[in-house]
Amino acid sequence: MRTDYPELFRDDAAVSKYENVVYRPGGYSASISARQRDVLRGQIRRWFPEPPVQHDFACGTGRALLMLADLVCAGHGYDVSPAMLRGARDAGCTADLHLVPPDGPVPMPARTTGPTLVTMFRLLLNATEPVRDRALAFAAAALPHRDSGLLVLENHGRSRSLRHLGRWRHRGDPWFSELSDRTVRDLLARHGFELVGTYGFALTTPAWYKTAVLRAPAGLLDTYLAPRLPSLSTDVLYVARRLP
Ligand SMILES: C[S@@+](CC[C@H](N)C(=O)[O-])C[C@H]1O[C@@H](n2cnc3c(N)ncnc32)[C@H](O)[C@@H]1O
Repeated sequence: MRTDYPELFRDDAAVSKYENVVYRPGGYSASISARQRDVLRGQIRRWFPEPPVQHDFACGTGRALLMLADLVCAGHGYDVSPAMLRGARDAGCTADLHLVPPDGPVPMPARTTGPTLVTMFRLLLNATEPVRDRALAFAAAALPHRDSGLLVLENHGRSRSLRHLGRWRHRGDPWFSELSDRTVRDLLARHGFELVGTYGFALTTPAWYKTAVLRAPAGLLDTYLAPRLPSLSTDVLYVARRLP
């Protein structure tokens, strides 16, 4: 958990690293993102009888907005980093992008009508407790009732996973955090949400994709086994809705 998290994506070098190193084509994160895209695009048609409005909190360079742009009736992205928002525009994101302050009162979602999908990808794991609570308070404001729509949250460092076994190699690394299902459930409950589904996208860790001999088996495990074993996945999406 990093106390300086909102500061870390503020410059163009961070944007470039995020796009070209973290999400380099064929790498671990890019392959997870491709599978998330397929699943979300399939599910959104089942979840919503008509296209929802998407509010993507901590949208960064627009990954979740770009995944769903043609399946939603409008998109809004919110982030603290002008550089990340510029990156989203450069990547072709046509959603309305909103710069929000890193602290202070909870940022309010743009006023919209109709069904709503709130997405929050790769924020919770490394963020502090107050940042997590603020993000969930934003989601609760966008989804005031049970019938308002759904919240989709990514945990890209689930504690009950193979990643946990290699934690000793990351001792002292401020980027190595772990997030448990329990913590996510508690966070959801504090803000009046209940978990309605969990989807798994990887059983392995980035190291497997950097090792030539492990890359192909890792791809197979992550593609075919992770969706069947969400309770052991390193990377998961939680789907939640407001409690009655
Ligand atoms: C790891 S990136 C994830 C970006 C995008 N959601 C994705 O999955 O590709 C984390 C993003 O959270 C943003 N962020 C950090 N603290 C935040 C806060 N307090 N409120 C809103 N966004 C924040 C950063 O600027 C950054 O763009």
